[in-house]
Amino acid sequence: MKRIFSNKEIVLGVTGSIAAYKACEIASRLVEYGARVLPVLTESAAELVGPASFEAITGRRAITGMFEPLQNPEIEHIAVATRAHLFLIAPATANVIAKAAHGIADDWLTTTLLATKAPILFAPAMNCNMYTHPATQENIKTLAGRGCRFVGPEEGRLACGFSGIGRMIDPATIIEACVPLLAPKKELAGKRVLITSGANHEPIDPVRFIGNRSSGKMGRAIALEALARGAEVTIISGPSEARMPWGATVISVGSAGEMAQAVEREAPKADVIIGAAAVADYTVANPAADKIKRDQETLTLTLVQNPDIIAGAGAKKRPGQFVVGFAAETENVIPNAIAKLKRKNLDLIVANLIGTSDSGFGTDTISASLITPDRHIEDLPLVTKDELANHLFNHIVAALA
Ligand code: PMT
Repeated sequence: MKRIFSNKEIVLGVTGSIAAYKACEIASRLVEYGARVLPVLTESAAELVGPASFEAITGRRAITGMFEPLQNPEIEHIAVATRAHLFLIAPATANVIAKAAHGIADDWLTTTLLATKAPILFAPAMNCNMYTHPATQENIKTLAGRGCRFVGPEEGRLACGFSGIGRMIDPATIIEACVPLLAPKKELAGKRVLITSGANHEPIDPVRFIGNRSSGKMGRAIALEALARGAEVTIISGPSEARMPWGATVISVGSAGEMAQAVEREAPKADVIIGAAAVADYTVANPAADKIKRDQETLTLTLVQNPDIIAGAGAKKRPGQFVVGFAAETENVIPNAIAKLKRKNLDLIVANLIGTSDSGFGTDTISASLITPDRHIEDLPLVTKDELANHLFNHIVAALA
């Protein structure tokens, strides 16, 4: 995330919705990721949340009026419109969306929106009837047709007491939606990336399962990087604690059998297939239909082998398709990974060390080596999973070229 946001000039337009207070968290996260945030509050927003909060968070003077930039050329609207890498309007009211759609420029924010060629992302927040009103929907369609992006809103309880669609989506998702708009590299535009991620739950009976400790963090990092490079991303995700990123299509599965079926269905459409899931190698032969009672001293489960999903994708690989596997190893990392690379007909394998406190399941960092079929090895001694994903896609992009 930091790599993408670092030193980017982001205009955070805050408009008059009760969700305006959440914009403080958005500003704070953007600053944490290294962005330079210029807060701009409409008159109504400034009634709901104090400009001082944004100034404290961003270290920049919050713009609240059309004419105050006259004293400061750095925030003159054409200068900002030209310099900004992104305009993020969060929360975006029906009013600002309508003004932007119709080219109305009657305050600093709408004037600057009209003057900028930077990407614009709206995070709508309003009453559900206002959001579903044909006028608002028409305005959203108009702006989307001009290339503006929208993130949310979501359904839920609204400040006005109604329940329905109109609640601003959470700040973490809004930040994720900025990623493809800020990332400089778009080498994967038009390409489809399919990722398996997370663990599998192999049922023993209706309430118990055999599982593993994969958190889905690696799969999430890979998906974010693919989105940042402009790819269309599908994640087939087993149970995992990590939230899958906004903008990706997520197919949720439980067992390895379900994951295999989903991959079988999706793989032919993909240009790149990446197996980051910790697939269960075995499943219970005959899961019990009812909860197993505690009435025996011992219990024996018969396990049968699951299909090898990534090997299946490797075997059916069509020309131009690129298949990547991961090898989770506790010992003989490189030789074991090379054997898997060959056996599964892969174009690249990520050999990762698992089972240490800073590398493996659930960790934020990982020790890995990227290995190609011609035995070129790139060692990454200890990197974040985001960094590994970046290296991985540098390889993939070079290979696809
Ligand atoms: O999710 P995290 O907590 O972030 O952890 C990330 C990770 C350690 C799970 C990940 O980096 C990783 O190593 N994933 C692969 C785990 C694994 O199953 O490794 P393996 O060496 O057993 O399998 C080799 C490859 O074959 C993998 O691409 C795996 O997805 C695939 N496989 C394995 C068995 C099987 N039946 N079908 C498969 O497709």
